[in-house]
Amino acid sequence: MLTEIRKINDESVALAKSILLSGGLVAIPTETVYGLAAVGTNPEAVKKIFEVKGRPTDNPLIAHVHENYDIEKLVEIERDYVYELKKRFTPGPLTMVMKSRGVVCRDAVCGGDTLAVRIPSHEGCRKLLRAVDVPLVAPSANISKHTSPVRAEHVYNDLNGKIPLILDGGKCRGGIESTVIDATGEFPRILRAGLITKEMIESVAGKCEIAEHRAGDKVKSPGVKYSHYRPKCDTALFSEDETDKALSLYKEKIAEGKTPYIMCADGVAEKFKGLNLLPLGNTETEIAASLYDKLLEGEKKADIIIAVAMPDEKGINLGIMNRLNKSCKRL
Ligand code: TXA
Ligand code: MG
Repeated sequence: MLTEIRKINDESVALAKSILLSGGLVAIPTETVYGLAAVGTNPEAVKKIFEVKGRPTDNPLIAHVHENYDIEKLVEIERDYVYELKKRFTPGPLTMVMKSRGVVCRDAVCGGDTLAVRIPSHEGCRKLLRAVDVPLVAPSANISKHTSPVRAEHVYNDLNGKIPLILDGGKCRGGIESTVIDATGEFPRILRAGLITKEMIESVAGKCEIAEHRAGDKVKSPGVKYSHYRPKCDTALFSEDETDKALSLYKEKIAEGKTPYIMCADGVAEKFKGLNLLPLGNTETEIAASLYDKLLEGEKKADIIIAVAMPDEKGINLGIMNRLNKSCKRL
């Protein structure tokens, strides 16, 4: 199959719509990462997503809709904080898991009775969602376990020949996947950390917990149990106070004739002057935005990416460290 990359505009959105409505897959930009979309009410199309990605069949998909879509067609809203969170943080990188009404097919939710709903803010993505006016289920547009794509070319590198169309909406501004919350309980619980932080959710809902995964939980996020986001080269992760260890490993690799790269926040990069660097930026927003981009740049030119962790695990750093701990090996 020939895979076309087209800039997102009225013409390419019309083409994407016709592919999707006839049961095909299209890669789409969002403000977080690129997604691999199918019409969520079409079981055959949904099955293709799992096949193309090599995704475990117990990991449910997120349904994406535009901001004027009535989400109560898809889910039962059992908690008032859902309306508040929706008003405050959507369109944007927040995904809420609620009781499904069964409109989105069982294959997409892996037979479960909940559905994750997201209203993206990326302008091109919204244009497509308004044009199709049906829920599009979309996991990140990478081969399962590989680093999530934040540019059209990243999608192409993973899915070339497997899908007909990639809509190019530029580099994703957010850079890590949406925050996923369980919105069925008395207060929201974060299943996957992201750019909408615990503190932001608390400011609206009063209380918010980070879910610890226990057997028998009503809502689980199967995705969190898999190793994820791995670049194709070797990796090593050190904490912020282990920069000397990172440096020794770097020198060891050089002595072996290998090409190491150090990936770290700009503040820490001072300690590695003159070495091969994959600088992530200064603020947590900048770091989130460049994390996958740098991992995917690194896998092309490095034999090993030596990553240095962020100082604390609050705010957006929680989401960043969640990804870094899964993408790079702690030594
Ligand atoms: O930013 C994003 O969320 C991106 C873009 C494309 O929208 N999508 C994305 O999808 O990251 P995916 O499939 O790579 O990750 C979905 C996460 C997984 O951890 C999955 O387990 C969880 O959401 N999830 C989906 N449906 C769920 C449900 N019904 N209950 C609990 N967790 C769910
Ligand atoms: Mg993913």
